[in-house]
Amino acid sequence: MEINLTKKIYAHISAIGGYVPENKRTNHDLELITDTSDEWIVKRTGIKERRILEEGLATSDMAVNAIKNLIETYNKDINDVDAIIVATSTPDMLMPSTANIICGKLGIENVWAFDINAACSGFLYALDMGASLVETNRYKNVLVVGADKISAYVNINDRSTNILFGDGAGVVWLEPTKEIGVIDALLLSNGTGKEFLNIEGGGSLYPPSQDSLEKEKTYIKQDGKVVFKNAINAMSHTCLDVLDKNNLSVSDINWLVPHQANKRIIDAVGKEINIEENKTLINIEHYGNTIAATIPLCIWENSSKLKKGDLLMLTAFGAGFSWGASLLRWTI
Ligand code: UT7
Repeated sequence: MEINLTKKIYAHISAIGGYVPENKRTNHDLELITDTSDEWIVKRTGIKERRILEEGLATSDMAVNAIKNLIETYNKDINDVDAIIVATSTPDMLMPSTANIICGKLGIENVWAFDINAACSGFLYALDMGASLVETNRYKNVLVVGADKISAYVNINDRSTNILFGDGAGVVWLEPTKEIGVIDALLLSNGTGKEFLNIEGGGSLYPPSQDSLEKEKTYIKQDGKVVFKNAINAMSHTCLDVLDKNNLSVSDINWLVPHQANKRIIDAVGKEINIEENKTLINIEHYGNTIAATIPLCIWENSSKLKKGDLLMLTAFGAGFSWGASLLRWTI
């Protein structure tokens, strides 16, 4: 049988959803716990508050709420889904995967479901993976989730991290199209940054133990300055490289959606690539850094601004280091 190579199938986003927990942790709350101030946090990070998931609930619960939000908003049928990819660094458990747990909570089966851990770049990795599945024509409806309960790993007494992180989940539904939707991505990883941003404990190197607890290995730790500089450099270069690869220029971009880690990083990337300020989507003020959830949450919150056909450039940077940039046409 001959394969018709002329009928290229693309993936496009046909629906989007999001969820953040009700409970807020404000800068004023943190002033009561550590030596910091609302003024310092806003000036140095752009963050005013973050959302914190209650104890007893996990990453999958936020993901399920985001998926339910998508289904209700776009009138989708969960039974049509044939693959679920969850980008997370904070799975409910080491096994089974959070994607698998989500299937159980949604009551679906016959779904290929798995997690991807690429830290703060996870959503972009998962989006590219999901788009690739759709392009094979073997998967027609793929959910790509970015979700993290990073508050479970934040040392509330550590002002170098407690000001930055919050919990949340975002999801997109990918489907096949003959028009282009997801265009391209450059996703990279170098393994040189693990000492500068990590959660060491709980894995096979430092399994859960009294020693790990005493050495505080279960907390997220970072050298903010090193991460900051690398983030600006890597995101700016990759944005320009992915544009170049696709014969596009910055002026073609309608919206830049950067990972929301620090407003100063976002501003610096915008300046480096020379994009007009009002083209950058930002929601860090209310949620802080929600790891793999920042990009889908930011698009979801701003989706009323987006027009069909708009060109979006997404870019992220995170632990490892891992980073990347993706290009897509908005098709909703
Ligand atoms: O998703 C990727 C992961 N993470 C990131 O991308 C985060 C990257 N890094 C950052 O966002 C920033 O480096 C931080 C927000 C973490 C820190 O900002 P900074 O401008 O790099 O501050 P710094 O560490 O250079 O500290 C400046 C000053 C110091 O005081 P002195 O030595 O100048 O007197 C710190 O002790 O600010 C002090 N400081 C604080 N003051 C109040 C540091 N943290 C705080 C704080 N509240 N929370």
